[in-house]
Amino acid sequence: MAENAVTGTPEEMSGDGVRRRDFINIAAVSAAGVGGVAVLVPLISQMAPSADVLAASSTEVDISSIQPGQAVKAVFRKQPVFIKHLTAKEIAAADAVNVGSLRDPQSLDERVKEGHREWLITMGVCTHLGCVPLGAGEGENKGEYGGYFCPCHGSHYDTAGRIRKGPAPTNLEVPEYEFTSDTIVQIG
Ligand code: FES
Repeated sequence: MAENAVTGTPEEMSGDGVRRRDFINIAAVSAAGVGGVAVLVPLISQMAPSADVLAASSTEVDISSIQPGQAVKAVFRKQPVFIKHLTAKEIAAADAVNVGSLRDPQSLDERVKEGHREWLITMGVCTHLGCVPLGAGEGENKGEYGGYFCPCHGSHYDTAGRIRKGPAPTNLEVPEYEFTSDTIVQIG
């Protein structure tokens, strides 16, 4: 056995003060290590997403029945998402805007998928303080720019969901999504 290995009980090593202190230090560190693990496990399991959150981590929407000019509200991660089928007029209105003049400069093409520019998919959450804007439902107020209107403090979004007037600092957020077919959109 190596000459400096820690062996025996502290009592057996009591003739060697240095080794006895080493043993006590090692024992103390081990106890702290065990305590640390015991505390960490419940914290980590609390941080793991629960089954219902995992199930809602993506949302599939069949868009085949949404006519031009209509929008539907879906739910993604417990928040509303607006899926709007833009008309040719709404697309033209969005394209006519000087992007450089916008508070949050983005073209329509930066906010839609290539080949699907008639589909505007945004979170239905006002970027001011989180109210759900109007404009996705039949007959709702679309605001001064024909997109969405947040009645909480008067934010107006245009047909590309870009902030045009009112206190909201940024455009309606575009979530991660993809077209899994011509008629199915997977959000998240
Ligand atoms: S929350 Fe929409 S304008 Fe304030």
